[in-house]
Amino acid sequence: MFKTAITEMFGIKYPIICGAMMWLCKPPLCAAVSNAGGMGNLTAGNYTTEEEFRGAIRETRRLTQKPFMVNITLLPSIRLTPEHYRMYFKVCAEERVSGIEFSGTPVDKAAGMQTIEGLKKAGVKLFHKVGSVRHAVHAEKVGYDGIYAAGIEEGGHPLNDDVTAMVLIPRIAESVRIPVVAVGGIADGRTMAAALTLGAQGVMMASRFIATRECQVHENIKNELIRRQEFETVLFGKSIGLQGRAIKNKVIDEILSIERKGGGLKELIPLMGGERIKEAWEGGNVESAPLMVGQSIGLIK
Ligand SMILES: Cc1cc2nc3c(=O)[nH]c(=O)nc-3n(C[C@H](O)[C@H](O)[C@H](O)COP(=O)(O)O)c2cc1C
Repeated sequence: MFKTAITEMFGIKYPIICGAMMWLCKPPLCAAVSNAGGMGNLTAGNYTTEEEFRGAIRETRRLTQKPFMVNITLLPSIRLTPEHYRMYFKVCAEERVSGIEFSGTPVDKAAGMQTIEGLKKAGVKLFHKVGSVRHAVHAEKVGYDGIYAAGIEEGGHPLNDDVTAMVLIPRIAESVRIPVVAVGGIADGRTMAAALTLGAQGVMMASRFIATRECQVHENIKNELIRRQEFETVLFGKSIGLQGRAIKNKVIDEILSIERKGGGLKELIPLMGGERIKEAWEGGNVESAPLMVGQSIGLIK
């Protein structure tokens, strides 16, 4: 039924790609999306040793014979060092994963052109998630195979240009020749059809995959996502240069109040730390950490 540059590039049935989700995109969910005909995601940041990361790739391959993407997020991190990133690049090339979803700093700037060349030589398709035409044009210039065009509606870390997917997707689609995948505000067939009409060759969804049996989060979280509406997410972190979108809750109120008073990283980091977020997903406390989700939660029933 669907034939686009994305289904052709990866030999998949549907042009539906699961976006990176720190703490959530692990082998069971990744394999479930791929087995259903889309493209699952294994988020590298979940693993800090080569053994664990390679093990997760092999575990996913045990659960599915279909292609899946690995995400490597090149944003400032307290947990991950350049050493970790070098390990991710090496393992992805050695394991010849189908593709990598990069976000944050472009790979040429973070790790040099030789990293792009090495991954391409290993047959790994390279995509970058961007929020602007200028970043998309740069990615095409340095040899990426595709673009994820992420509007301000998305969960995670939308670019602080704050452009909506409705405008960004056609702008990027008309500015590059490589395939464009739409990101942000997509959670069902209607929004997917709209994205394809805007010039995208596929869609990426992330929040939508949390409210599934295969996503290993606490039931409270799934129920909360179903209950919450499109106006119940909020942007935070602008004052420290790392904007995020998360569900409105007590911790986010605290973070925004610190930001309004001019507080800095020292006060914010304890509220935004990775372990705190992991505990909330697993324990089901919807008030205790920033839970990064998109406006698309309004469409999740
Ligand atoms: C829980 C969660 C965690 C995320 N973690 C990451 C991440 O580690 N790296 C990244 O590039 N994007 C991350 N994202 C962003 C998604 O990959 C995707 O771009 C975005 O969520 C799409 O919007 P949607 O959730 O409304 O579909 C995350 C999103 C969610 C919902």
